[in-house]
Amino acid sequence: MRQSAAAPGKIILFGEHAVVHGQPAIAVPLASVRVTAEVEDAGCGGGVTIQAPDVGVTLHVIGASAADDRLYDALVYPVEVALRALDVPMPDVCITVRSTIPIASGLGSGAALAAALIRAVGLAVNRPFDNATLNPLVYEVETRHHGTPSGIDNTVIVYEQPVYFVRGSGATPDTIETFRIATPFTLLVADSGQPSPTRLAVSDVRALYEAEPARIGAIFQRIGAITRAARAAIETESARRSTSSTIGTTLGSLMDENHALLRDLTVSSEKLDSLCAAARDAGAAGAKLSGGGRGGNLIALVTPKDADRVSAALREAGAANVIKTEVQ
Ligand code: MEV
Repeated sequence: MRQSAAAPGKIILFGEHAVVHGQPAIAVPLASVRVTAEVEDAGCGGGVTIQAPDVGVTLHVIGASAADDRLYDALVYPVEVALRALDVPMPDVCITVRSTIPIASGLGSGAALAAALIRAVGLAVNRPFDNATLNPLVYEVETRHHGTPSGIDNTVIVYEQPVYFVRGSGATPDTIETFRIATPFTLLVADSGQPSPTRLAVSDVRALYEAEPARIGAIFQRIGAITRAARAAIETESARRSTSSTIGTTLGSLMDENHALLRDLTVSSEKLDSLCAAARDAGAAGAKLSGGGRGGNLIALVTPKDADRVSAALREAGAANVIKTEVQ
């Protein structure tokens, strides 16, 4: 029998980095890129075998030599987490994973891979995971990749819905709210072509905060205020206005300001700054980096009629790839 599991990419709209330090952030799924994991119980060698044909890799969970730690972390560790959570004997199955999410680009490839693999193991043993059970397991995998993740990436990817997220602390659980998008809006997601070292960026921001708590704390708070204002705009008609010909209104301006603050946190790059400027010059209502930064992707808010022109300008300015998506 063959069954299939999947998980989407994600985009952080507002609040990255500040969310690690208790401020809210908003993220939406990016359904046009996905990880799929096909499970076949025919087996291919005993125990769980993971095939990743895109990268030409086959790993056996029983007897796997952890020769390549990066691949082990990405492919085998989620399966181990799933088996431990289910507390079942190792099934004889073959899981084939494929991904269209660019790696290390801030679009959640690691969390989506973990979510799809853990779902696949649940299907393989006929104990499918519900989202509330899956989410902390994907978080556990994320901690291995990113050290101190806030939890927003796994949450938006597992629930595949727009989320307003505030990290919990101590006994306080995370706040996970889905919210209404009053008017769909169009974003371009442009790849800077530079890898995004999220773990390093997060730890550098932490070090900066420890060195200058007052200045950096104020930046986090301003990003939190921007995120709350953005949510209010998205939930009302403001989003419609900011993607109409009245360019530069609420949402776009908030994106620009959020980008400037991320630059102050040292997580932008010259390439991200110049791509954001190119998008604005070509008529985007606003632009900002999205995710861990230092590379990876940026997002630009555009009207549907301006999308092609801004997309061409981004490519002209050196974007490696541009995806158009409707946030709805
Ligand atoms: C990464 O997509 C978002 C960051 O805020 C890290 C995190 O929230 O774990 C940079």
